[in-house]
Amino acid sequence: AGPKPLQGRKVIVTSGPTHEPIDPVRYIANRSSGKQGHSIAAALARLGADVRLISGPVTIPDPVGVTTVHVETATEMLGAVEAQLPADIAVMVAAVADWRVAASADQKIKKQPGEAPAPLALTENPDILKTVGHHAQRPKLVVGFAAETQNVETNGRAKLERKGADLIVANDVSPETGVMGGDHNRVNIIAADGIDVWPDLSKNDVAERLAALIAARFAG
Ligand code: C5P
Repeated sequence: AGPKPLQGRKVIVTSGPTHEPIDPVRYIANRSSGKQGHSIAAALARLGADVRLISGPVTIPDPVGVTTVHVETATEMLGAVEAQLPADIAVMVAAVADWRVAASADQKIKKQPGEAPAPLALTENPDILKTVGHHAQRPKLVVGFAAETQNVETNGRAKLERKGADLIVANDVSPETGVMGGDHNRVNIIAADGIDVWPDLSKNDVAERLAALIAARFAG
């Protein structure tokens, strides 16, 4: 067995989408398989970390060697993340819905023949990464993701600032890349001191490299 650079370190990872209810049978969600976040959680655990994975609804299994907490909504995800603080490192990979339905219905909303559909009023969800990045108990290393379809570097850099993150892993998720739901990913690592462009890799290889980078940055 190799050295375990993250032995004894507590790491929070978020993964998957969130589901925001409209009524008991309908919801709003982002597209996210959870593959990248779950593989990062597993890779950090292999480096010895005590990983607390806060997962939205996904169809993939809980990673081995990781403590997984299942949530549905962004509000629940924030609560579950804050409940894990203090922690040494946070890696926020989840595709959190930006908005939720302002007043979700307790009963199924029925279609009324001949009537126009009721408009859905939305309200903003909490930004979990931004909350953690500016928290009184901020982890020493905070890592975020930026799923962009254009201006990946510019948008990633702005996100680093705004969210209070140390690293932003920016990926191009335009439909033609096949990244969304697929098994590979092409990412740019954005830090205050520069950008590192990684080649096209499997999501597992991205997870391995990112876990190693996180361990090195945490130590340094
Ligand atoms: O602002 P944007 O959604 O593009 O930022 C993406 C990053 O912020 C990801 O790391 C994501 O997990 C995190 N995020 C979050 N809570 C939100 C929105 C995004 O933690 N409500």
